[in-house]
Amino acid sequence: MDTQGTGIKPLVAELTGIRQPHPPVWFMRQAGRYLPEYQRLRREQPDFLRFCATPALTIEAALQPLRRFPLDAAIVFSDILVIPHALGRSVRFVEGEGPVLEPLTRAAEIEALAVDAVADRLQPVFASVRGLRAALADDVSLIGFAGSPWTLAVYMIEGRGGTQGERARAFSYAQPALFARLMERLSAAIVASLVGQVQAGADVLQLFDSWAGTLAAEPFRRWVIEPTAAIVRALKAAVPGVPLIGFPRGAGLGYQAYAAETGLDAVSLDASVPPAWAAAVLQPRMAVQGNLDNVLLATGGAALAAQVDRICAALADGRFVFNLGHGVLPETPPEHVAAVAAQVRGWQRSLR
Ligand code: CP3
Repeated sequence: MDTQGTGIKPLVAELTGIRQPHPPVWFMRQAGRYLPEYQRLRREQPDFLRFCATPALTIEAALQPLRRFPLDAAIVFSDILVIPHALGRSVRFVEGEGPVLEPLTRAAEIEALAVDAVADRLQPVFASVRGLRAALADDVSLIGFAGSPWTLAVYMIEGRGGTQGERARAFSYAQPALFARLMERLSAAIVASLVGQVQAGADVLQLFDSWAGTLAAEPFRRWVIEPTAAIVRALKAAVPGVPLIGFPRGAGLGYQAYAAETGLDAVSLDASVPPAWAAAVLQPRMAVQGNLDNVLLATGGAALAAQVDRICAALADGRFVFNLGHGVLPETPPEHVAAVAAQVRGWQRSLR
């Protein structure tokens, strides 16, 4: 269904400034372990990277939440760590532990990253995008994504998640020129991945900077804002017109400069950002997305419905996409996701 006779999908329209009758809604990590049908599908391929490289499985995983909930977007089923893997690093997903990578420490390893091979090695991701595009209804947007260079560098240097990026930060302070070279090579790989996803049919892109909040103010500018702005410039040249969302999780006061200086079309807020502040400071400039606490989504109850109302009341008068402040947690009852999606769909906004 077209919206307002524009022929544009609701999510794409909202992100480009054409406000919709209700705020578009999707959930970060909307596919995955909280869905029993995903857990069944996963058993067919216990190796997670192989799962991500099998379009028949990833297409199905991405469609599962769309069958249950009235969402405005599907997100390609893949992982941010497919890029380090495509670059030739060792990446494994260990049950109960998360990702484990061989820590990157030397200049020679940075030069050995197979940047030119990335587009070829990510063909299964692009095939998944094409299959999804064909399967989705006309009014459902398809979101392609990548991790940001800083967040990928954290995983590649630390070798695992769950740190505060201490080794990556130390590397950046001790060897800034070498670290800049790593960021530049990661950025090239990220652009290749995102352009490939658009060429295969993605109509919105999101950059996940899950570890942006670990940086001090000046390095935040150097390793988050500047590389993001460069990636945005490259994408605006290569795939003009595709809305770009950035998610600098935990950026705190840094959100303002990130929004002002990256050239993104939308910024995704973690749950710590006050919605009224975002409405006053960020929304006049761009669309905002967010920012329900994922723990509240898992908990449910009257507090959940009340918080969904508060977020919509604060942000729905401007360009707004409803989402979480971080991904859906594995313990989340799917009924809570259904209830929130329905509540947002029922939100009446004035389209002044
Ligand atoms: O619907 C979707 O969003 C699915 C696609 C998707 C996955 N990972 C699948 C996945 C997306 C967009 C991601 C992004 C991602 N991956 C991020 C950025 C968002 C964030 O949460 O901050 C990060 C940091 C990763 C790295 C990663 N991948 C971790 C830390 C883990 C293990 C712990 C966890 O959160 O699941 C993964 C594994 C992973 N990626 C799973 C899924 C469904 C679980 C794998 C399984 O089936 O066991």
